[in-house]
Amino acid sequence: MKRTKIASVGMYVPANIVTNNDLLRYMDTSDEWIQERTGIRERRFADRTRETTTTMGVEAAKIAIERAGITASDIDFIIFATLSPDYYFPGCGVLLQRAMKMNEIGALDVRNQCSGFVYALSVGDQFIRTGMYKNILVVGAEKHSFGLDFSTRGRNVSVIFGDGAGAVVLQPTDQENQGILSTHLHSDGESAEILAMYNPGTHANHWMEQELADFDEAEMGEMFFSHAMIDKAQVFPNMDGPLVFKKAVIKFPEVIIEALNKNGLQSSDLNLLIPHQANLRIAQFVQQKLKLRDEQVYNNIQNYGNTTAASIPIALCEAWELGKIKEGDLVCLAAFGSGFTWGSALLRW
Ligand code: ACO
Repeated sequence: MKRTKIASVGMYVPANIVTNNDLLRYMDTSDEWIQERTGIRERRFADRTRETTTTMGVEAAKIAIERAGITASDIDFIIFATLSPDYYFPGCGVLLQRAMKMNEIGALDVRNQCSGFVYALSVGDQFIRTGMYKNILVVGAEKHSFGLDFSTRGRNVSVIFGDGAGAVVLQPTDQENQGILSTHLHSDGESAEILAMYNPGTHANHWMEQELADFDEAEMGEMFFSHAMIDKAQVFPNMDGPLVFKKAVIKFPEVIIEALNKNGLQSSDLNLLIPHQANLRIAQFVQQKLKLRDEQVYNNIQNYGNTTAASIPIALCEAWELGKIKEGDLVCLAAFGSGFTWGSALLRW
């Protein structure tokens, strides 16, 4: 069976830089609090009307496709990971297919939040290994700025997130010792509600201990999205930050070690770990636990915030552009997030 290589990488972030101090216009927070707890200094916010999750994905994809030395018509499958899609349905994959005038190829949307890119990469890897596809475009993109609560009420969530997109082209490789060595995917839905956006949805409080909007009163319709949901601010992401933090610092190292063990390698063999950029403190904890030197870990959350499904391909692209990833390097991508879902991919560049 063939191996899959990441043939190229691309990224796009909006021009609009929003500093921590800029957020003071909307909420009661401080640059000091945000930097101390998260490491974030600034993030990018998309143009409100001219940029969408898909258009940012398209910009990142154009760069990745050009760097792979192919054209959009050579792509034979699209995998698009996001939690902030342009439409509830259809997904961003078909919007990208249309925008890039691609052939009538398959387009799959992945809804795995922060681990979306690792899941998408793993799916693409299987299609390449079996020989079904030869040029897969994997995109991770988010336009968080459109769907957050920027009042003081939502500050524990809204200060963390930023917009942007990253993309890679996957191709088969005949070279021994190159490409994706293994991927490892996990989930635990026990705590699904502690990092979630409940509405719009079809749950009607089915999974909730504490009831949200009153669904019984509505006879038909009005259940999916109601004025009450908006009035009670139940249309924004909900997060128990400390609980997410505690779980993340266990699962990140676990899934990285799982990947290393599977391949008979150790953390000292790693040239670069690119953790999902959830919070700089989480990444530092993981680095310490795995006894990695500073140059073995790449972080850029300081400049972009948490861009969820886009964070790994953006960091991968930036690290590559800075010459921090060279041929033959052992690179680990690892993510943890809402679901909970988590995963890792170990690859030889
Ligand atoms: N500015 C100022 N004060 C704030 C802010 C803010 N932006 N946000 C919260 N606070 C206050 C709280 O109100 C609280 O005040 P109190 O003690 O008077 O009640 C205090 O700060 C501490 O709040 P905590 O939530 O306990 O703060 P914590 O130290 O845990 O930091 C944070 C919060 C940054 C969210 C942290 O828990 C974290 O990073 N968690 C993980 C987040 C994450 O990784 N998410 C996963 C990815 S997201 C995805 O998958 C979609």
